[in-house]
Amino acid sequence: MAQIKETAVVYSQEMLAPDIYSMWITTKAALDAKPGQFISVYTKDGSRLLPRPISICEIDKEEGRLRIVYRIAGAGTEEFSHYKSGDSIEIMGPLGNGFPQEGEKVFLIGGGIGIPPMLELAKQLNCEKQMVLGYRDANLFLKDEFESYGQVYVATEDGSAGTKGNVLDAIREHGLTADVMYACGPTPMLRALKAYAAEHHIRCYISLEEKMACGIGACLACVCKSKDVDHHTNVHNKRICKDGPVFLAEEVEL
Ligand SMILES: Cc1cc2nc3c(=O)[nH]c(=O)nc-3n(C[C@H](O)[C@H](O)[C@H](O)COP(=O)(O)OP(=O)(O)OC[C@H]3O[C@@H](n4cnc5c(N)ncnc54)[C@H](O)[C@@H]3O)c2cc1C
Ligand code: FES
Repeated sequence: MAQIKETAVVYSQEMLAPDIYSMWITTKAALDAKPGQFISVYTKDGSRLLPRPISICEIDKEEGRLRIVYRIAGAGTEEFSHYKSGDSIEIMGPLGNGFPQEGEKVFLIGGGIGIPPMLELAKQLNCEKQMVLGYRDANLFLKDEFESYGQVYVATEDGSAGTKGNVLDAIREHGLTADVMYACGPTPMLRALKAYAAEHHIRCYISLEEKMACGIGACLACVCKSKDVDHHTNVHNKRICKDGPVFLAEEVEL
């Protein structure tokens, strides 16, 4: 069942770039997982009760494994970075709705640690894909893997690789167009992409991030403002963990 805590096993772990780690875990959650969903990962330290939401980066249904790629942000992710092959890891998932799969010529846009969830989507989408990846600097984690699935365009904040600036600067520099946009990354990036997509009549799906507690729709810690009234709360709210994390951009306020 999707929302039951499970003891999974670390299959492998490697560092991709400073503070960025890739971990494959063997888990039943791989059977039902879809691109754009996430798992809640529990720490072993009892003083940190709340799980950490981490997006699914890749799915291997045959081997029953999921891959997560994460940045060390605090004590929980720091703990995960020390796990070794064979260690147990408590998780819950897959959680959230995941990306729809539509469009003939699409943008897959990831900014920073919003890049990982776009990889499984890139694998599964069967159409013309333009992947636009925004990094801080020339530590271009996962870029080579994206190149197996289509054309990759890079933007870096410091200009050390690709277009100097952000993902929109790269789109403009290369004169790219698409009918559907899928994006995950920091809120200012998503806000700019939402406006760009509206201006250019591109259907835009964004994956939102918010601090979470339960991760399964029960506590309302993760709400964002929405255009429509939510049936659960009867107000203009959406729960990012349960109704999202993927939303049609025009449905939510950023
Ligand atoms: C749907 C979703 C998907 C995510 N996917 C990824 C991913 O693929 N890779 C990745 O590196 N990070 C991802 N994050 C962010 C990740 O959850 C946080 O970086 C992580 O929880 C930080 O935990 P910590 O103990 O290391 O840091 P601390 O700052 O010590 O965390 C303290 C508390 O705040 C919460 N918290 C802190 N930052 C965030 C945040 N940005 N989002 C949600 N909760 C937060 C933690 O869960 C914890 O309960 C995702 C967040 C969400 C909501
Ligand atoms: S984290 Fe509890 S409702 Fe979303």
